[in-house]
Parts: sequence; C-alpha cells; structure tokens
Amino acid sequence: MTAEYQVHGSVAVITLNNPPVNGMGLVTRTAAVKGIQQALADDAVKAIVITGAGKAFSGGADIKEFNSPKALAEPSLHTLIATAESSTKPVVAAIHTVCMGGGLELSLGCHYRVAMPGAQIALPEVKLGLLPGAGGTQRLPRVLGLEMALNMIVSGTPVLSDKLAGTGLFDEMFAADADLLTSAVAFAEKIADARPLPKVRDRKVDYPNHEAFLQFSRNTVKAMSGPFPAPLECVETVAASITMKFDEGMKFERERFMHLIQTTESKSLRHAFFSERIASKVPDVPADTPVRAIKSAAIIGAGTMGGGIAMNFLNAGIPVKLLETRQEALDKGLATIRKNYENTMKKGKLTQEKFDQRMALVSGTLSYADIGQADIVVEAVFEEMGVKEAVFRKLDEMMKPGAILATNTSTLDVDQIAAFTKRPEDVIGTHFFSPANVMKLLEIVRGAKTGKDVLATALALSKKLKKTGVVSGVCDGFIGNRMIEQYSRQAGFLLEEGALPEQVDKAAEKFGFAMGPFRMGDLAGNDIGWAIRKRRYVEKPEISYSKTADLLCEMGRYGQKTGAGWYDYKAGDRKAYPNEQVNAMIVQHSAGLGVARRRISDQEIVERLVYSLVNEAASILEEGIALRASDIDMVYLTGYGFPLYRGGPMFYADTVGLPKVLAAIRQYATGHHGEAWTPAPLLVKLADEGKTFNG
Ligand code: NAI
Repeated sequence: MTAEYQVHGSVAVITLNNPPVNGMGLVTRTAAVKGIQQALADDAVKAIVITGAGKAFSGGADIKEFNSPKALAEPSLHTLIATAESSTKPVVAAIHTVCMGGGLELSLGCHYRVAMPGAQIALPEVKLGLLPGAGGTQRLPRVLGLEMALNMIVSGTPVLSDKLAGTGLFDEMFAADADLLTSAVAFAEKIADARPLPKVRDRKVDYPNHEAFLQFSRNTVKAMSGPFPAPLECVETVAASITMKFDEGMKFERERFMHLIQTTESKSLRHAFFSERIASKVPDVPADTPVRAIKSAAIIGAGTMGGGIAMNFLNAGIPVKLLETRQEALDKGLATIRKNYENTMKKGKLTQEKFDQRMALVSGTLSYADIGQADIVVEAVFEEMGVKEAVFRKLDEMMKPGAILATNTSTLDVDQIAAFTKRPEDVIGTHFFSPANVMKLLEIVRGAKTGKDVLATALALSKKLKKTGVVSGVCDGFIGNRMIEQYSRQAGFLLEEGALPEQVDKAAEKFGFAMGPFRMGDLAGNDIGWAIRKRRYVEKPEISYSKTADLLCEMGRYGQKTGAGWYDYKAGDRKAYPNEQVNAMIVQHSAGLGVARRRISDQEIVERLVYSLVNEAASILEEGIALRASDIDMVYLTGYGFPLYRGGPMFYADTVGLPKVLAAIRQYATGHHGEAWTPAPLLVKLADEGKTFNG
C-alpha cells in the first residue's frame, strides 16, 4: 500500500505515501481510490481528507513509471480524480511542501483545498514538452483566473502557496506554525454537512475581452518557445477553458496531450531528463559506495580554466586556495574571479553579501606547503605532459593521505598522469568546459586505477557544483572532444569541396546548434586546434585533415581574440562578418588540390557534421569509454550546444533511423575524403538488427 487510511472521529484521512515525493504511481492511485470507496462505505465517516506523507503532498506523475504501461493503467489519474470529484462526501485536499503536476490536478478535483504556506505549487508538464493532461488546463483557470493560470501552465514555474492565498485555489491557508493534519480534520468537520458539494468544474472562467488576451498570449508564447510546440498547445488548451464547456475542454486537453506525447520534441526533453538522472549511476560503483568529504579545495594554475573551476567551488561554499608559479599570474587570476563576480553583481544576479562571502573563501599561494591539507586538488596548468608530471610528483609529495588528485587535462592520458604518483587510486580526471563557471558539463575521467570511492566522490561533487557529471574512460579527447574532432574534420573537408564558412555555420545553426563549427572555432581560438593538429601530424600521420584551418592560422587569424578568424569581428561586437580574403584562400586551396568545387546542400552539411559525431560515438560506446548512449547525449547537450529538442546525437540518430544513418555514411565513404567514413561496427550491428542506441 502506498497510501494509508485512517479515521479521525468522523473524518477519513488518506495519506499518499510513495517516497520521495508521493508520485502518483499505479499502486498509490489504487490505494487512494480504495480509500475513498472505504470512506464512502463507512457511515461513521462524514468527510475525507487527502494529504501526503513526508516531504510532499504529491510531486505528480511517478517518474519510475513514466514510459511504462503502468502510467495509463486503471485506475488512471483521471479515474482517481473523478472518484474524488463525484464522491458524495466532501473531499478536502490538505496541501503542504510540494504540490505539482498530477498532485495539483488531484487537488483540483477535490471539493476543498486547504494548505500550509510555503508549499510549491506548479503544473510543470511543459518542461517535458507536455501539458497537464488530467484536467489541469481546465480546472486551474477556473480557480485562478485565465491570466495567472496561463502563466503557470506555460512557464511550469512553481509559485508559493502563500502567494496564492485568497484566490479560488485555496479555501483556507493555515498559519505557518499550525499542525496540518489537525487543522485539515477540523476544516473537514466544519464543512462535513455543507451541500451542494462545490466542484471546480462547475465554475466559469470570466475574463473581459478574452480573445484579445488569448491572441496576445499566442503571439508572445510563439515568439518565445522556439521549436517547442508544448507552450503554444498550453495556451490553446487553457483557451478552451473559456471557449468550451468543461467536458469538451477536457476532451480537447486529452487530445492535445496525446498529440504532444508523440512529438520528437517532448520525447527529446524526456530523454534528456532521464539521461541526466541516470548519468550519475555507474554499474560497478553502487549507490552506497562511501564518499570522501570535500570541505576544501586547491587549484593549480590560475589561468582561464583554473579561475573558472575555482568559482564553482566558491559558489558551493567550499574554500579554495589557488596555486601559481608567479605572483603576477596569481594576482591576475584572483582579479579575474573578482571581476566576474562584480559583473554578476552589476547584472543584479549576486548580492553584495554573497559576493563578500565568496571572495572571503578564496586565497592565493605560491607554495605547495599551503595546500597540502586540501581535500581535493584540481590541476589546470599548461597542457604539456612535462608540466603535468612536475606538478603531480609535487602533489604526491605534499598532499595529505586521502586527498583527491584531479587533472583538468583535455587531451592527455590520465593513466600516465596517475603513474607519476605513488597513489594512482586517488587520481581522476575532472574535465571542466570553458567557461568553467558557466558550462554545465563535467566529464569525469576514470583512470584504470581510479578508486571507486574517488569516482563516487567526484560524481557527488559534480552535483554539489551543480554540474552534469558524465563518466568517461581514458582515450584521446575523452567522449566530447574525441567526437568533435571528427566533426571538425568534416567541417574542413566541406570547405575544400565547395562550401564557405558562413554556409556551413548557417546550416548547423538552422539545425539547432548554438553555434556553427567556424564561429565556434573563432570563439575558442583556432590556434588551439592548430597546436593539436601539429602534434597529430607527427604522432598520427595516417589521419587526414583539411589544411584550410592551418592556412587561416598562418594568416594570423586566431579568432575573436585577434579580431579576425574565419570571420572579421568589430570591437565590442560579437557578430561575425565574412571576410573576402579568407573565402578566396579557401577557393584557392581547393584549386591547389585539384578539387572542382560544387554546390553542397544544407542537408549534406548537417548530415556530415552530425553523422560524423554519431559514428565516432558508436565506437566510443562499443569500446566502453562511455557507459551508455544517453551519457553521450548528455555530453553533447550540456557541453557542445547540441539542440535540446533533438535529444542529443545518439537520440537524434535513433529518430532518423540507424539504417538511414548508416546508408548515408556509406555514401559519404565513396566521396571526397571518404577515408574519414569507416562505419563503426556497433552502428552496423544495431542498424542490421533494427535496434537503436538508446534501447
Ligand atoms: P592557461 O594558459 O589559461 O592557464 C594555465 C595556468 O597555469 C597559467 O596561469 C600558468 O601560469 C599556470 N601554470 C603553468 N605551469 C604551472 C605550474 N607548474 N604550477 C602552477 N601553475 C602553473 O590554460 P587553460 O586554458 O586554463 O588550460 C589549463 C588546462 O585546462 C589544460 O590542461 C587545458 O588542456 C585544460 N582545458 C582547457 C580548456 C579551455 O577551453 N581553455 C577546456 C578544458 C580543459
């Protein structure tokens, strides 16, 4: 039983009890319906109270059942709500802490609602690309009015119950120190004999000139919701609460809900939601693996990454010591942190008090003796093995036993770095993304000898730092950069064959990438890729690259930082202006290679960029570098600007159909630089078996 039944005098109390937030799973629904029936059958019972145990009235749908047939099995949420609403004895919802989604919809089917202040009230379905499908769109406007209900349903944002006191949603708001159960039972006794029983469905939504308001809402919501259909569907269904009779509106809501649940956009959002939750689970590291306490941190190197990484710890209230080789570099790093926080403060997103707190937590040093007691040290020095070796040997010597030794390397071998110490079990990769204080992704690189408790600690830490932690094995580039390498290669080959940077970027951005590959290169600095390629030309001469990017760097065009890259930039303006000389260089390079330039379609551009990611990802998955396809999707959604409404590269490939993806790859393998397209065995296998990456 996940709902308890008790009788207090003449009042039956049904307590939803399905931790952590009393999700409306099948067992809970069944128990609640039974509870109502039991109360109806008992002559001594005059009224019914429904409430929730623990930390919620109800958080809504039980996410454990989300994609299972149980979600729609009888008694459905509709049936439960109908049972409450048609009860011949009054039903009172006693709301506290959290009342969201299906939980709020259930309460709207009750005859009365009483609440504690401070409860979070929301219909958040839109965040998963859906709309409230159990009467929320029809009942909420009837108690809150058209405007407020529309705002809540379109945004999905929680509103505190006290802010809604005095609206038709609540019949009584109790004092903050009241006992909810006692007060709710007293309320139920008071209204036990009142007839007729009030039903939200019988109310009317009244709004003068509602058509004008609805049209205004459609226009604004359409402009703001981008590719997602749900927000506009929310407007349409809420509109039905005023333009249709209640039962017609319910039918309409059901129909639009069933439509949305089938859309790729909603499926992508739900995929991202579940992928994020599952990413922190590592099969051989059980949830009860002990974690090490992280109460202090040290960062080695106060450059671009070191400063940003430090801010993550400071934001989480963890004191940080920054270590540099020179006072000047240290001062610069500390000044950058201060300036970043000052800018946030200017934007009104940080109070002076918080600013002072954070700055008080950071200090600098030039001496390892000052950092030896830190619980974790994150190394963010130059990307050179020799420099890393010196740092890790020193850390091994100076850090207290049990300290975690993390490296932020983006390309170097974490196992080799671990081998510089006598405690490889304490070494792990924590690959932050730039700007480290903003980007959500944290690739957690598990070395061959990394301790399970160290991995569990890093995963727990990523949550504390509000990052999406994704575990990667050791390989060149880990998950994200190993894939982007193939994408960048294709971008270069496209230039050789006939495209110009602007066309490639526009096609990628139209597909939904936050930024096309060339604008991205200009932002990150083209010299970084140049340095990596120069190393590859020596270490892996078998890999082919377009030389256009090298020629660009030889022109001194490193990107935004030099005011010129693939595009021109004007001071104080991030807009990219195409440059004639660059385009002429590209055309001339093709001529030098003897390539007859051709018109390349946007479809080909997108396919080559995205399928190159997918093909490499399939190898990454097969090699066990990534634990699951959804982890790869999380890396791309949170670290590489992959469009959320497409769910990540693997999910996107699944929606296109793997046989189709494979056929395109085989086709490109016959073209210019076809050697870049060897289909990954896992892709071939899954395509042949009619399977998908995400199972
Ligand atoms: P950076 O050049 O901005 O900063 C490096 C800092 O380390 C400099 O301030 C330097 O003075 C200091 N340093 C050098 N040797 C040192 C030593 N022995 N002891 C103490 N401090 C020392 O470099 P950036 O971009 O911050 O990169 C740092 C690390 O992060 C590299 O491993 C890089 O591959 C990685 N990374 C960089 C990303 C980026 O977008 N810049 C993204 C992800 C990782």
